[in-house]
Amino acid sequence: MSLLRRIQGNQPSSSPSPNPEPARATPAPEPSSTPPRRPLPTTGGIRDAYVDLKNRIQAKLLSELEPTLDFSRTDELRAMIEEKFDAVLMEDHIVLSRLERQRLFEQIVAEILGFGPLEPLLKDDTITEIMVNGPKKVYIERNGRIERTNVVFEDDEHLMRIIERIVAPLGRRVDESMPYVDARLPDGSRVNIVIPPISLIGPVVTIRKFYRTPLTVDDLIRLGSATPEVMEFLKACVQAKINIVVSGGTGSGKTTLLNILSGFIPEGERIITIENAAELQLRQEHVVTLETRPPNIEGKGEITMRDLVINALRMRPDRIIVGECRGGEAFDMLQAMNTGHEGSMTTIHANSPRDALARLENMVLMAGTDLPHRAIREQIAMAIDLIVQTARMRDGSRKIVSLTEIQGLEGEVITTTELFKFEQYGMEGGRIVGRLVPTGIRPRFMDRLEAAGIRLPPAIFGAGRR
Ligand SMILES: Nc1ncnc2c1ncn2[C@@H]1O[C@H](COP(=O)(O)OP(=O)(O)O)[C@@H](O)[C@H]1O
Ligand SMILES: [Mg+2]
Repeated sequence: MSLLRRIQGNQPSSSPSPNPEPARATPAPEPSSTPPRRPLPTTGGIRDAYVDLKNRIQAKLLSELEPTLDFSRTDELRAMIEEKFDAVLMEDHIVLSRLERQRLFEQIVAEILGFGPLEPLLKDDTITEIMVNGPKKVYIERNGRIERTNVVFEDDEHLMRIIERIVAPLGRRVDESMPYVDARLPDGSRVNIVIPPISLIGPVVTIRKFYRTPLTVDDLIRLGSATPEVMEFLKACVQAKINIVVSGGTGSGKTTLLNILSGFIPEGERIITIENAAELQLRQEHVVTLETRPPNIEGKGEITMRDLVINALRMRPDRIIVGECRGGEAFDMLQAMNTGHEGSMTTIHANSPRDALARLENMVLMAGTDLPHRAIREQIAMAIDLIVQTARMRDGSRKIVSLTEIQGLEGEVITTTELFKFEQYGMEGGRIVGRLVPTGIRPRFMDRLEAAGIRLPPAIFGAGRR
């Protein structure tokens, strides 16, 4: 982003352009006459005074920074801002305690270089989600629970300036003609923005934080999301190239689980991942990561999931991992699974394994094929072996709630068998108590596991339990 845009973006909307007389852009004390010292007022409008001071210093700093500055060199800029910040304080005879000075400085740096009031929330690794409902209501999710924070923006304009900061570097924009947009922060966090007139409560920002250290198998077991037996079974399935769909609602842990499942792929296989916004973090050496591209401002240059799945087939993949199937790409994914790319995996937004199958069918139709229903179902039944259903439970925990094998087609109906299912025993201290238990049925694809040299103890499937 050009400095000019940044400066304009940072100007309080009420103040004039910083040039040519930047020092007077805001009501500052006359620098020529030596005014009395100006400590921060300690009564009444302390917040307003603080905000005013912050805006004043900010405007002054921005007007003094060189237009040719490279905003990617954060450290240098920080040092430069600090120098000027001190100069402004001196010049205006503003006295602050060390703590106040530090706080004000960090806020100003966050405004100029970062994401303003969102910055501390973004830095806090215990926060998994940030939800801004207009300038005065900011919520976070922590340990699966939503809490309101005391973080506020000054007004809609202030929030819009931060939004602009998020989308502008990506060459995107949000305005009345395009009032909602998906974006990504430099650290990989996913952002969705909706502004008025679509939103009636002011600009709304939803940030799904990027997990620097993704959850592991052990975490899932410790958190009660899965059992060791189920994870062992899933590992065997991945190694034996069983085609898996992870199904679940928004935020139910689909991507997290897909990442863990991908971790079971043996070293040495060529893995191609395809996502809308790269979230998967595979540790294998031989991974090719592809990401779709939204259309640019002129509405051109879009590269879809479907384009990438088709292209991936020409890249000699052993496995294709599609972050989430939402449309026509499902058709190509099924084709791939049916034509020698076994062991491919994806996620689908659905509330039950049945729902997942229905969605898949709809997505295939979205690809514009004129296959009859039965033929589509046949494709699905042949391609998919296992659906892993995840859910975000009422207590905020994420759990695997079902493992369902796809068996085949009977008439027009896809037949399924549940292998494991979550049984809830009750509640304890606001937490759901239960366990993911085997139904006692062994999967039909057992022979494929055995052919891959994997032997699972029959007890995993509940044999001898009753
Ligand atoms: N098993 C789990 N236990 C606790 N938190 C989880 C679990 N799985 C995922 N999460 C957290 O829940 C949020 C949503 O997870 P994600 O995998 O992105 O969901 P989805 O892909 O279904 O939308 C993330 O913050 C993630 O860290
Ligand atoms: Mg996801």
